[in-house]
Amino acid sequence: MADQTFTITDNRTGQTFTLPVTDGTIRAMDLRQMKTGPEDFGAMTYDPAFLNTASCRSAITFIDGDRGILRYRGYPIEELAEKCSFLEVAWLLLHGELPTQAELDSWIAEVKHHTMIHETTKKFLTGFRYNAHPMTMFISTVAALSSVYPECKHVLDPAIRRQEIVRLIAKVPTIAAYCYRHQLGFPYVYPDNELSYPENFLNMLWRMAEPKYSANPVLARALDILFILHADHEQNCSTNVMRCVGSSQADPYVSVAAAAAALSGPLHGGANEEVLRMLDEIGSVENVRAYVDKVKSGHGKLMGFGHRVYKNYDPRARIIKWTAEQVFEVTGRNPKLEIALALEKIALEDEYFVKRKLYPNVDFYSGIIYQAMGFDPAMFTVLFAIPRTVGWLAQWQEMIQDPEQKISRPRQVYTGYDARKVVPLAERAPLTMKA
Ligand code: ACO
Repeated sequence: MADQTFTITDNRTGQTFTLPVTDGTIRAMDLRQMKTGPEDFGAMTYDPAFLNTASCRSAITFIDGDRGILRYRGYPIEELAEKCSFLEVAWLLLHGELPTQAELDSWIAEVKHHTMIHETTKKFLTGFRYNAHPMTMFISTVAALSSVYPECKHVLDPAIRRQEIVRLIAKVPTIAAYCYRHQLGFPYVYPDNELSYPENFLNMLWRMAEPKYSANPVLARALDILFILHADHEQNCSTNVMRCVGSSQADPYVSVAAAAAALSGPLHGGANEEVLRMLDEIGSVENVRAYVDKVKSGHGKLMGFGHRVYKNYDPRARIIKWTAEQVFEVTGRNPKLEIALALEKIALEDEYFVKRKLYPNVDFYSGIIYQAMGFDPAMFTVLFAIPRTVGWLAQWQEMIQDPEQKISRPRQVYTGYDARKVVPLAERAPLTMKA
């Protein structure tokens, strides 16, 4: 029960209302009682882009953007990145607690059991043009899995939900690797279940003629850390899509595909690809100042800078910077790093960026690591989608189990015409004359 209230006076009618406050929020539906008359629909809130609206109650991920804090199920991201593997974190996000050794062993075995994709899905992938964007192939192929597992539509059955969650977590690296190989014209490499989750992914990406792929342990661990950092981020654009599409009881494959589509945009997960294009455009450290001035004068944005929630720093960016150093020990320094460091330095000291609280986000350095590891920028967002699939599924599961949730359906403020008559075709004026 709420023990705090807001008292609101509707100056249109002079009526006063007492609204309960729970966890610092009022219920938007409580505003509906504020009416100017019996015909009035009642008051609503107007919040384009959800700047100040909580759409759910969630116990999965906590972010304090002002203090630069990110925790999964209460555990700081820094500790999880240091002490856990990605599959341990996946279990944590889905189940609420870290696994015991026995739970982890059986979880890893369960995921490994589902790493293969059906041969017809492989054939489906081969139909894409040689130069198709990997994220487009990824989105479409994940959606196509829905046709392979028709039982997945029974989303209210916990056993089926669990089965599809495992399948998705197991298969997204395989799909991602096939998309990558397809682009290069290389044969697809089947999963090797003797390897760990990140090692097997590297195997499916890079194995050529050798009978057994052996991943560099530093690169495999770096990838695992990157997966942990990207696993969930509470109600961001793609997670909101996952919950929204899933709220209609659409199956988890098409819901994950929709979430991945949201992730692909340059303002969201697509930013890591854009960062590399931006660094290419800048070209050298000497050009950084001029580029920053161009952005300040309203031409474009610094990709990889700014965040809707973090207004101090993005804690993931700090861990990524550390991971980058480990990767460069193996791969050699990415020459783009010098440009990125110069850009970061100038931007962090510049009044324009300081005033707007714009700091490097997770995407600023992840692309530089991925490129040093040998990935083309077009693959970066797919690398983001693999771990985020876990977050989407944890949030989807929480949404389905939440008795307060219903089909997602916002309201609008209608700004169009009032009712009007259809003018006969011959009498209509062309659009240009109306403008
Ligand atoms: N470069 C230059 N200026 C910026 C940037 C940027 N990267 N980001 C925001 N600004 C400016 C805006 O123009 C605006 O300035 P104004 O007040 O003079 O109009 C001000 O900072 C506030 O920006 P908003 O757009 O209101 O911030 P919002 O919270 O809506 O957007 C976003 C957040 C989309 C991340 C934005 O900062 C951005 O476009 N960044 C670049 C793309 C990017 O890196 N996206 C990845 C985000 S992390 C993730 O999704 C995984």
